[in-house]
Amino acid sequence: MLKITGKTDVYGIFGFPVKHSLSPLMQTAAFHALGIDAVYVPFEVNPDNLKDAVTGLRAMNVKGINVTVPLKERIVPLLDKVDEAAAFLGAVNTVKNEDGVLNGYNTDGDGLVDSLEEEGVDINGKTILIMGAGGSGKAVAFALLKRGAGKIIIANRTVEKAEFLAERLKSYGKVEAVSLKEVENLLEKVELIVNSTSLGMKNSDPPLFNYALIPPSVTVVDIIYKPFKTKLLVAAEKKGAKVINGLGMLVHQGARAFRIWTGHEPPIDVMKKILMEHL
Ligand code: ATR
Repeated sequence: MLKITGKTDVYGIFGFPVKHSLSPLMQTAAFHALGIDAVYVPFEVNPDNLKDAVTGLRAMNVKGINVTVPLKERIVPLLDKVDEAAAFLGAVNTVKNEDGVLNGYNTDGDGLVDSLEEEGVDINGKTILIMGAGGSGKAVAFALLKRGAGKIIIANRTVEKAEFLAERLKSYGKVEAVSLKEVENLLEKVELIVNSTSLGMKNSDPPLFNYALIPPSVTVVDIIYKPFKTKLLVAAEKKGAKVINGLGMLVHQGARAFRIWTGHEPPIDVMKKILMEHL
């Protein structure tokens, strides 16, 4: 039985909606596995009430929170400090409350790169195609460049968004922006493909390009984990490519948050196992 006492620390997640979030399950399992006296609860925070909710974190000494859609950007001006990734992205997914000082972090992109490392994928000097230039695409592109990718090619339906992002990223490394139509001509030149668009979540979603053209030599990553294997990953696997879904990114962004809050090494296997059982 979960033993809550007067000493139990409180953590949680802000989202709207928040019911779908797997973070409470994952973080609770992690606290339990390490014997840390803490609970992690979902907070449904209407964006209109975000300011009050953040004031509440300080007032009630909530030790840390994760932040999800649609609050990641809106919370930034309400915090005291943000890390480099969060500042670049203008989005925070983790907050640590240090004696009333709220520090914001963004662990999303690093979570993806950690999951690639775990799978034995070397990104160093590699040419990487990222599909999507929204919040996730931005986070993934930033982390890949910071952690040693050789060149990033950003493909987006709205090409202007890819161009804008490429311009902002160019001080961190080599970046190019293309339209989705150009992707098929680039497949032979890249070593890794990352889908960071929302396309693939629904069964009726059309493909982003002709997946039959995926070369077996590339590694294909989808940040989606529901469905567990998107049409993109099924097709890539059929072509003989190595495929990785978004579960690792979910686990590792949470693992980084756990490390920031507790200073302890997160129990990755435990976190992954409970998600696998749930999905
Ligand atoms: P997230 O935070 O998950 O990245 P987002 O910021 O809304 O969400 O970004 C969604 C991404 O999926 C964008 O790159 C979007 O392309 P546009 O910038 O052109 O909108 C992409 N996307 C969504 N629906 C798409 C579709 N039907 N075809 C192609 N790309 C799509």
